[in-house]
Amino acid sequence: MADKGFTLWFTGLSGAGKTTLANLIAERLAALRIAHEVLDGDVVRTNLSKGLGFSKEDRDTNIRRIGFVAKLLSRNGVPVITAAISPYRAVRDEVRKSIGPGFIEVYVKARLETVVKRDVKGLYEKALKGEVKAFTGVSDPYEEPLSPELVIDTDVENEVQGADRIWNFLVEKGFVAAEAALAVGRA
Ligand code: ADX
Repeated sequence: MADKGFTLWFTGLSGAGKTTLANLIAERLAALRIAHEVLDGDVVRTNLSKGLGFSKEDRDTNIRRIGFVAKLLSRNGVPVITAAISPYRAVRDEVRKSIGPGFIEVYVKARLETVVKRDVKGLYEKALKGEVKAFTGVSDPYEEPLSPELVIDTDVENEVQGADRIWNFLVEKGFVAAEAALAVGRA
């Protein structure tokens, strides 16, 4: 069992590795039979935030919605993992304040050059040509967190190394019980 609910809030450029890390942590929680929820930007935008675009106002609304759902779940003991770019510091800090001590900000860092090279969805190519407007990191801002709980640099760490560091943090801080983690060889 999780000792308490928490919100693991991934933030970073598109293609930095937020979804990959979110899924790895979700798998580990599932292995411990800890009920949890993943709120991924791409998925949320097909339902809860359907119709929203990428203006600052729409992005802030998207983040406030994700933050609201995360708060409802995590205050009831359900660990939540979010994976949205969440480019603006002020609204991330607003969510941090609203969720309180269970808010864990993880900056998933990657150089622009790296995410452009990865270009998993082919959107950077379009953004660089100006075919997609206001694209984060290219033609729209990304405000780095000033004091995130964790920084995972996917230029230097592979996904398992990153997931291990996040997992260790969760165990060390008591968000995941050490005995439970030990039982599956993950402590
Ligand atoms: S956020 O800014 O509101 O946090 P969110 O994570 O939900 O963004 O959505 C980002 C995803 O939408 C990207 O991974 C990309 O696939 C897609 N997308 C489409 N247009 C843009 C854009 N202009 N800027 C960033 N991402 C975009």
